[in-house]
Amino acid sequence: VSALSSAAGRQDPSIALARWTTHAEPSALQELLASASHPDVTSFALGLPAEELFPRDAYAAAVQEVLREDPRALQYGPPSSALREHVVELMRLRGVECRAEQVLLTAGAQQGVSLLSRLLLSPGASIITEEHVYPGFQQAVQPFEPVYRTVPTDRQSGLDVTAVEHVLRRERPAFIYASPEGHNPLSVSMARETRARLTALAAAYQVPIIEDDVYGFLGYGEAASPPMLALDPDFVLYVGSFSKILAPALRVGWLVVPPRLLRLLSVLKESTDIDTSTLSQRAVAAYLSTGSLPAHLTRLRHAYRDRRDTMLAAVARHFGTRASWRRPSHGVFVWLDFPDGLDTGAILPRALERERVAFLPSEIFSVPGGPRQRNGMRLNFSHCAPARIDDGIARLARLLDTPA
Ligand SMILES: Cc1ncc(COP(=O)(O)O)c(C=O)c1O
Repeated sequence: VSALSSAAGRQDPSIALARWTTHAEPSALQELLASASHPDVTSFALGLPAEELFPRDAYAAAVQEVLREDPRALQYGPPSSALREHVVELMRLRGVECRAEQVLLTAGAQQGVSLLSRLLLSPGASIITEEHVYPGFQQAVQPFEPVYRTVPTDRQSGLDVTAVEHVLRRERPAFIYASPEGHNPLSVSMARETRARLTALAAAYQVPIIEDDVYGFLGYGEAASPPMLALDPDFVLYVGSFSKILAPALRVGWLVVPPRLLRLLSVLKESTDIDTSTLSQRAVAAYLSTGSLPAHLTRLRHAYRDRRDTMLAAVARHFGTRASWRRPSHGVFVWLDFPDGLDTGAILPRALERERVAFLPSEIFSVPGGPRQRNGMRLNFSHCAPARIDDGIARLARLLDTPA
């Protein structure tokens, strides 16, 4: 009775939440999205694709076709076998031979990472990641309160495999999270040798790798190596997406995993969202059937390569020797390392208010218990109009010259 009366009296309206929420903070990315999307802000902050390059007409035609042909395009439905076959073809372009039975269609790479985390992680288990980690990954694993074992990233060759081996000698983490191309945020692509060594370690210690390859198809001409999945289909669990190559709003991505895991992942997937939008799946399949993707990808790569080069030229012009960076072969980011003592997080509010320019500070990518880099900066080049890139970088550089 007393519990009832206290509920009725609203003495204590607080609701008991799961333990992990006590150290959950709202995503800094989400908060920034609001101010950085203001039209007078030149934003290098988020990893958005260029809207003007979305294949809208071709996609509209694909949607019309699937809606006209079959009312079940709007129904619940099993995963599109046509789309799974298309994914097999796409993977071939990445140098991977796989079968449709290995392909789980997801609502984007984010869901792929999330489902794999749920499959592999017990609460409190350890995981191996780099010191800089895509925040969406951190959000996906957060409910499991994992213990991060971080390893450094070589700015040229990628994740430090020797450090990974050090961890594996001591314990058996649930998985290793790695990105082969255009790492978010560091924009490093893993050297062929690094991929081979990491894959061999995964098999030797029987620890799976979650291979997040969302930028794998956005390469700018330099010779690319196949993803780690090509080296080991048993211990590499591959995450792909149409977000960066078609459009994120379609919310279609895929996993390539051993068939026995696919069955378990399908159960998890169903519990999450029943199925990936039937309409989206079918429309993407219809779009791919027209054979338009290769030409679209060529256009996208050209446009992004130009933007990358414009940004690199601007960075060299305005930052000169005050920062160090590399030319990324893949992806949508340029990463800057500044000398110790410069705190990019402290600069960001002024950048937004005074110079109307946005970027992401390195601190956002650090993980619980891992080292926090304060003097790094992630700049996105895919979304900003090319004509605004130089001016935006000039304003950022000017900010470093002016006192707080
Ligand atoms: C490394 C990485 N993984 C996953 C995602 C999520 O992609 P999707 O839109 O396919 O869910 C992103 C998006 O920016 C990303 O950068």
